[in-house]
Amino acid sequence: MNTQDQIEKFKQLKYDLTRFMMIYKFALEEIETKIEILKQEFQMLHDYSPIEHTKSRIKSPESIMNKMLRKNSELSLPAIKASIKDIAGLRITCSFISDIYQVSAMLQKQDDLKVLGVKDYIKNPKPNGYQSLHLLVEVPVFLSDCQEHVCVEVQIRTIAMDFWASLEHKIFYKYSQSVPEHLTRELKNAADKAYELDLQMERLHREIKEIKDAQGDDSDEELRRIIINNQQFNLPANFIKLLGE
Ligand code: GTP
Ligand code: MG
Repeated sequence: MNTQDQIEKFKQLKYDLTRFMMIYKFALEEIETKIEILKQEFQMLHDYSPIEHTKSRIKSPESIMNKMLRKNSELSLPAIKASIKDIAGLRITCSFISDIYQVSAMLQKQDDLKVLGVKDYIKNPKPNGYQSLHLLVEVPVFLSDCQEHVCVEVQIRTIAMDFWASLEHKIFYKYSQSVPEHLTRELKNAADKAYELDLQMERLHREIKEIKDAQGDDSDEELRRIIINNQQFNLPANFIKLLGE
């Protein structure tokens, strides 16, 4: 092949790869919008959000290639799509453990999402102590001339689980030798402490909520105030009365 042909071939492959990765970006954006809607719905209706924050990432071409080579798989875009399920990844950090299951249930109920798999590393932590709830979902992405079904890996965890996993990743990632036994034990011990913190904070949250609910703020002013999009609206005195008739 002469050089011009090689350049043309390279350009075509670059185009295909850009298109391939772009579709994962769109899938991520769709799920991020879903999460943002759930977050705002909770904030507006219950004055509370189970979601602290989200973070998304697309796997780099280099990591994709290395993973395919590790798996001894053929390098083609269809083969990559079929065998790597975490090209698009979304991490949702929740306030409490119960929020994780609530967010997961709300996502699983959405009928444009197909749940391909659930791994519950909270009920069954990994031996090193890793905890999170993983959902593998398939999202439809509508393009100008076709519809694609795209896989997204969603990891849902608490702040404490995220703290542990982020630092564990920093300390041990790409450490190929076996980790000395006392360090493995300490790491697991740190995960147990993070879990204890999660249980403690959840209990505090529940107790305070019970006290707040019992006290309530049923003042006339509070009852007639709604807040949408940071904008405060005061309901006319007879509005609710008329609505209820
Ligand atoms: P991968 O091939 O690494 O994607 O693993 P898998 O297909 O067996 O899936 P698994 O659910 O075990 O892990 C997927 C992702 O969860 C990883 O890419 C990490 O982001 C996260 N994860 C899993 N185990 C650990 C762990 O021990 N420590 C940390 N920090 N993250 C983990
Ligand atoms: Mg992964």
